[in-house]
Formats: sequence, C-alpha cells, structure tokens
Amino acid sequence: PGPADLAGRHVLITAGGTREALDPVRYLGNRSSGRQGYALAATAAARGARVTLVAANTELPGPAGADVVPVESAEQMHRAVLEARKEADAVVMAAAVADFRPAASAESKIKKTGAGPEPLDLAVNPDILAEVSADRAHAGQVVVGFAAETDDVLANGRAKLARKGCDLLVVNRVGGGRAFGTEENQAVVLGADGGSTEVPMGPKTDLADRVWDLVAERLAGT
Ligand code: C5P
Repeated sequence: PGPADLAGRHVLITAGGTREALDPVRYLGNRSSGRQGYALAATAAARGARVTLVAANTELPGPAGADVVPVESAEQMHRAVLEARKEADAVVMAAAVADFRPAASAESKIKKTGAGPEPLDLAVNPDILAEVSADRAHAGQVVVGFAAETDDVLANGRAKLARKGCDLLVVNRVGGGRAFGTEENQAVVLGADGGSTEVPMGPKTDLADRVWDLVAERLAGT
C-alpha cells in the first residue's frame, strides 16, 4: 500500500453480525466480532477512500475517517446498504448476516410456560450481497463478498461466487478456532474472472490490503 490509490473513491463496507430479535431482550445472533470489516475500513481510509461502514453490533472503536452507520438486524442492514451503495465505487460485505429471523418479534418478553417450548417460526432474510450484485447501482461498481468454509474451500467458494454474482469472494478457511474473534485471518480471494489469490495467515489488515489491491485493479479502468 502506501499510495493513495483509493483517493476520490467511496467505499461501503458491512461489518459485524446481525441480531434478529425474538422479543425485547432476546435475539438470534452469531459470533462475528466485526474485526475484519473494521480492518477493511481502516485500510481503505488510509489509502485515501471515503468510507461508509455499516456496523452490526460491534464493540470496536469506529475506525478513523469512517462514517459509521450502526444497525442491528439484517433488515436494517439491508435498508442501510441500499441507501449508502448509491454513491459507492465498491461495496465490500464482510458482515455475518443471519439467513433467517424469527417470523415475529414479540413486543413483550416471552414467558416460560409449563407447556414446554413453543416451536420457533423463521422467515428468510434478504440476501443483501446477491441483491447488490445482481442490481448494481451503477456500471463499474465493484462488489465483494465474504464466505467462511470448513471443507472443499475452492469448490464451495467458486459455487458461492457464481450464486452471489459478486466480482470477488474472500473465502476464509474456518474451523479449529480460526477467524472468528481472532486478530489474524487467512483466505483465498476468488475472482469472477477466474483469478484466485492466496493470502497467508496474518493480521486482518494484511488481508484487507490485499482485497483493496484487487478492488483498485478493477476500479482502475473506471
Ligand atoms: O451465503 P453466505 O451467508 O455464506 O454468504 C456470505 C456473504 O453474503 C457475506 O459477504 C455476507 O455479508 C453476505 N450475505 C448477505 N445477506 C445475507 C447473507 C449473507 O449480504 N442474507
């Protein structure tokens, strides 16, 4: 890095993990810390970009120079992304978005009854990445997704890249305590053009810089 190769560019990043309310005090959620998304925001700002960070339930200090939009649920993230993507040259979705949410969120705290547990009805959340990829806000907008895979990483990654329709998919190898909540990450970045870039285990800011290298290459002609 070093060069301000993202100067004049606006990037939109999602980070953290969504929480899907069951009632006013309970939710369905995941273990995403938001660290990879924050590393993407900090490195993009350091490379000169204007940064909008849609952050779901993170406890990290806002990265210097980023405009943070806090959200809680997938539906809130969906709305925030659709709004902020309009001016974005690149959209990088590092958040862990819940695939499902409780079909109804109770207005009052759900009480324990003697009758045993009630079944939980779920509704499907919007796939934000797939939507933003299929319906670009403008020509040349670069869209990047993240995926975590435990096995058949390349085959599953290629299939997901095609399914989501994004330009780049950062595939983390997970399992054995890797990636979630740690400071380091390792990945292979797959391109819709057939390219693949191995990023060895290292700080999340290193992976973030490799992602911005690949994004900057794709933006160079626009
Ligand atoms: O399908 P999967 O959850 O593995 O896809 C992960 C990628 O898709 C991430 O980039 C995540 O931010 C995005 N995603 C999304 N909306 C969803 C589910 C995932 O944008 N409902």
